[in-house]
Amino acid sequence: MKLKNTEALTSFEYGWLLKRIFPYIKPFLGRVILGFIIAIPVGLLDGVVSFALKPYMDYVVGKQNLNLFGFEISYSILAISMPFAIIGFAAFQGLLRYLNSYLTDWTSLKITNAVKIDLFSKLIYMDTSFFDENSSGIILSRYLSDPDTASRGIVEQIKTFIISLFGAMSLIVVMLYSSWRLAVVGVGVLTVAFLPVFLIRKKIKSVSNQNTVITGDITTTMNETYSGNKVVTAYNLQKRQLDNFIEAINKSFNVSISLTKRVGWMSPLMYLIASFGIAFVLFYGTKLIYSGSMTAGSFASFVTSLLLLYKPVKTLGNTLTGIQNIFVAMGRVFELFDYKPIIKEAENTVAIQPLKHSITFENVSFEYVENQPVLKNINLTVNKSETIAIVGNSGGGKSTLVNLLPRFYDVNEGAIKFDNIDIRNFKLKDLRNNISFVFQDNFLFTGTIKENIMIANPSATEDDFQTVLKYSHLEELINSLKDGADTVLGERGLTLSGGQRQRVAIARAMIKNTPIIILDEATSALDNESEAIVQKALDNLIMNKTVFVIAHRLSTIKNADRIAVINNGELVELGTHDDLIKIHNGHYKHLYEMQFNNQEAGV
Ligand SMILES: Nc1ncnc2c1ncn2[C@@H]1O[C@H](COP(=O)(O)OP(=O)(O)O)[C@@H](O)[C@H]1O
Ligand SMILES: [Mg+2]
Repeated sequence: MKLKNTEALTSFEYGWLLKRIFPYIKPFLGRVILGFIIAIPVGLLDGVVSFALKPYMDYVVGKQNLNLFGFEISYSILAISMPFAIIGFAAFQGLLRYLNSYLTDWTSLKITNAVKIDLFSKLIYMDTSFFDENSSGIILSRYLSDPDTASRGIVEQIKTFIISLFGAMSLIVVMLYSSWRLAVVGVGVLTVAFLPVFLIRKKIKSVSNQNTVITGDITTTMNETYSGNKVVTAYNLQKRQLDNFIEAINKSFNVSISLTKRVGWMSPLMYLIASFGIAFVLFYGTKLIYSGSMTAGSFASFVTSLLLLYKPVKTLGNTLTGIQNIFVAMGRVFELFDYKPIIKEAENTVAIQPLKHSITFENVSFEYVENQPVLKNINLTVNKSETIAIVGNSGGGKSTLVNLLPRFYDVNEGAIKFDNIDIRNFKLKDLRNNISFVFQDNFLFTGTIKENIMIANPSATEDDFQTVLKYSHLEELINSLKDGADTVLGERGLTLSGGQRQRVAIARAMIKNTPIIILDEATSALDNESEAIVQKALDNLIMNKTVFVIAHRLSTIKNADRIAVINNGELVELGTHDDLIKIHNGHYKHLYEMQFNNQEAGV
């Protein structure tokens, strides 16, 4: 599945999305709800100040005593106590606000982390083809940023929504209390001012999706600049990288600004509509006061509430668009969750047995891209403990053939069998536990040399480790290092030379101690001297194993029990060196003369 081109189709299915996110919220539901409950008084207390203005104006300013449930309260007491009461309320609201922020941050972070952990657990089991198709940038943004937006946002936005909603409600209640006639006008105008919010949901979804793609491009450029820094420097590609970066940044600018263009008018429009309301309220309110049906205090209270109403209403508008963004991100997150790897484990797996007889490729055909066959009807039997060399033209399908063994990819037709059992019947883990791979370029993890070797076999002992160091010809290197095997490798193991890295990789394969070994151009990147020592290590690795070796080195090929020649995806010749060299006009003979002859002369 290519992520770049996917737009979540579920972004508007709110119910479905909420049902999906709910299991992540559930463990923290109590705290989430408590946070939301605290948000209610935080909002409601917004109305207190404007509510207090009415008695303040009417009684304190008007010098009237207040009659409250039969108690007479003198205006001078009100004059002193009300300002303090307001401070008290503000302090109380502040405390609640703090509790509320703490709870929502805590829960939203927990929820996000749970989502991220689940996504990551899926990512590490993704097919090889998934990583072929998707750039590191898009994976970073889809697996890290989207969950942030989705799950953190949901709690944050609901909290903000509740605070604003109850804030608005309390202000509206104060307005109703002051003058229901004016309140009807005010709320009516507000409703009209709100309408534009609902018109722009679709636009936000598309922009949010586009932005993910662009963020991916930016991250990819960053990653390439990092990983490829030597190529960038050697080929003076700085400008190219910069141009790519600028292009992505500009695209992002265009997308964002187009959103602003379409959405930016919303808020001013809301203000404009609201100003009509205020103008009318001033006009009509004055009339009500003059006719004696409203006190000046009520009017002050009302106008203050109306002005204060701006903020929560505006926030409500933003929250609604924000929530749309969250659903878009959530749609994308659950799309990843629903992606099923193509390489699946059988329902009823068969326990893998130590190889007794042979590995067979039966009528194996394979294509990466539809209708572009890479392997065509391959039939090949490799006997136990046999070393088979695979040679052929570049791009002919040699690596592809061996990649099918650990099921990095699955055959399109035919089957690969171990002792007559289709490898698709084994547990993936068991199958891969039976195969070691040494590539041309082997990834080393950040960590020590020892860790990089020991990861291959959790049950390996210190003795095993020492043996492996010896047979992989690493002892000398280890002894020359101050920290020995505990020397930490750089992020990509760059502090080692090619030959050294290769021997670490061989040691890793050795300690895994599997019956089947695949060597894909394991010495091709090395100079003669390193190649010789790496070859010695390899010879130790493959002793008594069933081995598939893709190599360009003549002696390796000659030493193999048999040679398979893969030409443009077809197995064209199979036999010993002596057999194949005799075939008149044969592929192997041709390769031998073209390529290996030079080598032999040189050595
Ligand atoms: N991950 C991939 N996605 C699509 N095509 C691929 C992929 N890997 C290899 N190919 C194509 O498959 C063909 C065989 O490649 P490969 O098996 O690597 O050849 P060889 O190892 O013999 O040089 C080539 O045409 C190559 O371009
Ligand atoms: Mg290859």
